[in-house]
Amino acid sequence: MTDFHSVALVTGGASGLGYASAAHLASTGFRVVVLDRSERAASKAAEQLGVGHLSFCVDVTSEEAVERTIAEIVGKCGRLDVAISAAGIPDSFNATVDQDVDDWRRLIDVHLTGSYLIARAAGRQMLRQGSGAIVQFSSVAGVSGLPRRNAYTAAKTGIIGLTRSLACEWAQSGVRVNAVLPGYIETPFVEQLASEGKLDRDVLRRRTPMGRLGRPEDIAQAVGFLCSSAAAYITGIVLPVDGGWCAYGAAGDASVLDD
Ligand SMILES: NC(=O)c1ccc[n+]([C@@H]2O[C@H](COP(=O)([O-])OP(=O)(O)OC[C@H]3O[C@@H](n4cnc5c(N)ncnc54)[C@H](O)[C@@H]3O)[C@@H](O)[C@H]2O)c1
Repeated sequence: MTDFHSVALVTGGASGLGYASAAHLASTGFRVVVLDRSERAASKAAEQLGVGHLSFCVDVTSEEAVERTIAEIVGKCGRLDVAISAAGIPDSFNATVDQDVDDWRRLIDVHLTGSYLIARAAGRQMLRQGSGAIVQFSSVAGVSGLPRRNAYTAAKTGIIGLTRSLACEWAQSGVRVNAVLPGYIETPFVEQLASEGKLDRDVLRRRTPMGRLGRPEDIAQAVGFLCSSAAAYITGIVLPVDGGWCAYGAAGDASVLDD
């Protein structure tokens, strides 16, 4: 069995930013547990990470499933040092007056309630240990208004509030809680929105000061930093990893494309 120094769970770990974060943590010595609603994708991801990594099929909106899974992880691995909440679903982009409240509820449930349930169950174990790091996924939607994307914007703003309140409650107990704020990153999530005509990559590139979309590894590195001892005095922050997107406030394009 490989020698792991710590145990990390990653929700949404079968794809995109969750998988990139899982791969980064695995490469730095964590035993990684991939949690995803897709059983096949989760076990394939754990297999790709290498020997000793685990997977569970979990819907993060189910309180019972989250509690049971985290208890199983602790039973199998003996501890839990890191919890990353990257599970997410895209929204409809429908005009507000045409939106369905069930879509609103599902999106809030997956992004916000899912992050809360994972943090609550992981936090319980981390408080017992007296140490741990939790990283939540916000978005540019968490700090600015995205027309028609009500539920996504509300969930991502809520995640920032959740991060801050948990960080303050647990700060003296050795449990740190932070959030990353990805700009637009090349993942299946963005691919789906682009292929449906809901996002335009060139428009996004021009609006990004660095002139490119992010790579999943850009986010994974930031997640890795927030989980590491290099971030020992950091809690309650929201770290933009966005090529300068949030810093930009002038009229018009933020960069010039050369192709
Ligand atoms: N890609 C971007 O540009 C971007 C930007 C900002 C924020 N984010 C956020 O980053 C996170 C990851 O996004 P991504 O681009 O990697 O998406 P992705 O679609 O590539 O991966 C999301 C994963 O979450 C899983 N998932 C969805 N619902 C779930 C549920 N109920 N329970 C368990 N797993 C579930 C999916 O099966 C999938 O494997 C999301 O929270 C998203 O909102 C992404």
